[in-house]
Amino acid sequence: MANRQFLITAALPYSNGRLHVGHIAGAYLPADIYVRYLRATGADVRFICGSDDNGVAAIKTAREQGRSVEELTAHFNQSQKQSFDGLGIKFDIYGGTHQPDYVELHEKLSQDLFLRIHEKGFFNKKTTRQLYDVEARQFLPDRFVKGTCPKCKSDNAFGDQCESCGASLDALELINPVSTMTGTTPEPRETVHWYLRLDQLQPKLAEWLESKRKDWRPTVVNFVLGQIDEGLPERAMTRDLEWGVPVPLDDPDAKGKALYVWFDAPIGYVSFTAKLCENLGEGWEAYQNWWKNPECKVVNFIGEDNIVFHALTFPAMLLATHNSENIQGDEGEYQLPENVVANAFLNIKFPGKEEEKISKSRGTAVWIEEYLNDFDPDPLRYYLTANAPEGGRTAFDFEDFLNRNNTELLAALGNFVNRSFTFAHKYFDGKVPPAGTREDIDNEQIARCKTAADEVAADLEACKFKSALNRAMQLARDANAYFDTTAPFRSRKTDMDACGRAINVCCQTTRALTTIIAPFLPHIAAKCRDMLQLDDDAIQWSSATDQLPDGHALGEPQFLVKKLDPEELIAS
Ligand code: 2FM
Ligand code: ZN
Repeated sequence: MANRQFLITAALPYSNGRLHVGHIAGAYLPADIYVRYLRATGADVRFICGSDDNGVAAIKTAREQGRSVEELTAHFNQSQKQSFDGLGIKFDIYGGTHQPDYVELHEKLSQDLFLRIHEKGFFNKKTTRQLYDVEARQFLPDRFVKGTCPKCKSDNAFGDQCESCGASLDALELINPVSTMTGTTPEPRETVHWYLRLDQLQPKLAEWLESKRKDWRPTVVNFVLGQIDEGLPERAMTRDLEWGVPVPLDDPDAKGKALYVWFDAPIGYVSFTAKLCENLGEGWEAYQNWWKNPECKVVNFIGEDNIVFHALTFPAMLLATHNSENIQGDEGEYQLPENVVANAFLNIKFPGKEEEKISKSRGTAVWIEEYLNDFDPDPLRYYLTANAPEGGRTAFDFEDFLNRNNTELLAALGNFVNRSFTFAHKYFDGKVPPAGTREDIDNEQIARCKTAADEVAADLEACKFKSALNRAMQLARDANAYFDTTAPFRSRKTDMDACGRAINVCCQTTRALTTIIAPFLPHIAAKCRDMLQLDDDAIQWSSATDQLPDGHALGEPQFLVKKLDPEELIAS
């Protein structure tokens, strides 16, 4: 059978701030686990990410910080990349929609897609009225207008939404609107934009999403099918902005306009794939082997706030380019995603405080670069997966993080591997002792390894990361129970054969655990692999339960998990 082929994307973070634990739990960590697992099964995988540099978010922050948008986005593109590296989230490429090495190809592919949709007649050019800041000489993006909410009369409303009552608003409805750019009162003026005919694309979208109902997470598919039931409106795919991808039409009305950031951002997945192909010497056009090939499955990992754009708007854009009636897309046409995997948000709970939302402005977050100054990456990978917001919100609770490190990761996995290795070194000359003639209890433990490998694989295939990790850890807990029951610490005094038999089974279990935990805890798995003196291929899933031969030489024992002292850390 040919290798399976996957193109995995993780949402492009806005390059206007640092990454926190919520980002990681939402999209990047599950994506990385999935990619590591797929690779271990021999699949051909490309893992794509990079920064979302265009749009208003970067302009706003650059203004606030008094720096250019180019400088701001270049800075955060790099700082985010470092945070990902530090956590072992390993993309094949980390691009940026406006970074110097990427912007040319990104603009080309975004503009080509826009033109294709235009040619297929799925844009409606419309004139509307929007608020214009006379002093700044520009139309105001929704978030740049504040005013009084027409519904609840709070002064805390923006052009798109009221922060007090949550009502979704049109900027023109605001009472006493003020430009946050200049503090002046903006005036309504006419402007022209290109609207994507989501209403026309709706029947095909509905049919496609219905076909995903049983395989996708209900939080994703039910949400978008709900939107379809309400009827999809046409949506403007252009903005009055200088920063972004220029609208590629030979039309005076297109002057000074850019593509909407949510139009070009998902095309970043495509343009970074093209850049990766170019970097690998395949030529940039080889992106088509990944995006226009029915054999390749595209899977998008995102946070819950991105569901509409990945499960409706982006697929609609791709559908609009098709000639064929085939919804998924024929060979040579953009393929719709196989799956869109979204997690909910993560709240935060600091010691002695109530659980609250993560907020950049209030500083209620755990920042990755700060975390990495103090801790190893795998305890965070462990906690954020064991406590993943897969079905709904969960919280990063600092005390819980420390406790679970000690009582789960260290107590189950760290201790088991440590005591098995210590025994092998102390009493068996650093070698795997002879398996001898196994008894039922030994065979049962060996069988558990195989069952765990199969069950973890089934969960990971289904993107059930939390359950998968729990099953992997159950193997470690069972292994500790096996160690306690067979009690090599007693038999070493009375029956060296029995002692060796048990330590052999413990070495085999460690070998299986090494492969099974690797997608979740790659740094710990790498140490285990060193200790077992196995090469990289040993991480292949199909060899997880291969038996180490009697007498196999083991490496020096290493500590896998540090104990974290809650009292000390919380006090500091
Ligand atoms: O929500 C966000 O952080 C967006 N920048 C995600 C974009 S995902 C993709 F479309 F690029
Ligand atoms: Zn309101």
